[in-house]
Amino acid sequence: MMDANEVVMPKHIAIIMDGNGRWAEKRFLPRALGHQAGVKVVRKIVEYCAQQQIKVLSLFAFSSENWRRPPDEVALLMALFMLTLQQEINRLDRNNIRLHFIGDRTALSKALQAKMQAAEQQTQHNTALHLVIAVNYGGKWDITQAVQKIITKMAAGELDIQAPINHELIQQHLSISSLPEPDLFIRTGGEQRISNFLLWQLAYTEFYFTPTLWPDFNQEVLKTAIDDFKNRERRFGGLSKKEKV
Ligand code: IPE
Ligand code: IPE
Ligand code: MG
Repeated sequence: MMDANEVVMPKHIAIIMDGNGRWAEKRFLPRALGHQAGVKVVRKIVEYCAQQQIKVLSLFAFSSENWRRPPDEVALLMALFMLTLQQEINRLDRNNIRLHFIGDRTALSKALQAKMQAAEQQTQHNTALHLVIAVNYGGKWDITQAVQKIITKMAAGELDIQAPINHELIQQHLSISSLPEPDLFIRTGGEQRISNFLLWQLAYTEFYFTPTLWPDFNQEVLKTAIDDFKNRERRFGGLSKKEKV
């Protein structure tokens, strides 16, 4: 029997890791050190989510709009991404974590693309936690590429040209379509916006904003967000359980 007060853990948590630059600037340090401090937090949060038996953790690492930053910051972020991937892949694999990358890879260096593919391949049979890293990702790009894939399949005769374009069909062609949609969305750094992260997939996600800057984020703040989530009532357009007799 369903208990009205049943506490449900989020299966999928999606995080916009924001505030690295401000964390560094507050300390009169270069922004690069804020990004480095941010990477250390990623490692801890991934471990914590795996321990808590969260099924999916999605992290926004670089948006399709972040190319607007000065070229040296973009280069640093790419280099840090490559280095972190190299350093962490074996440990992630040992911890039974499966990596997925979402976003337009074609703009990334060939070397980075190769590392990403190798990491996905190496961890493809792991089952503890799906770790989704969004790199050169934009929610608008995701929906657009889904539509493009559908049209390409229709042109190739792999999909009936008369097939109804419904939300299931679009959903099936989005990034991470095989994983459940996020239950809990967290944005650190105090801004209260989506910044073109998972637009479609966040349709019914619970939002949690914290002023904590990403390098200061930790298990306690994450636990507070999860506890807050547990007290939310998700109605998905229906009625409150209290109103249903
Ligand atoms: C988030 O931190 C990291 C990336 C966007 C890569 P920011 O670099 O946006 O930090 P703030 O917002 O300037 O403090
Ligand atoms: C969102 O943060 C992107 C990532 C964290 C990767 P931004 O710092 O780029 O977002 P805006 O510019 O404040 O909206
Ligand atoms: Mg920012």
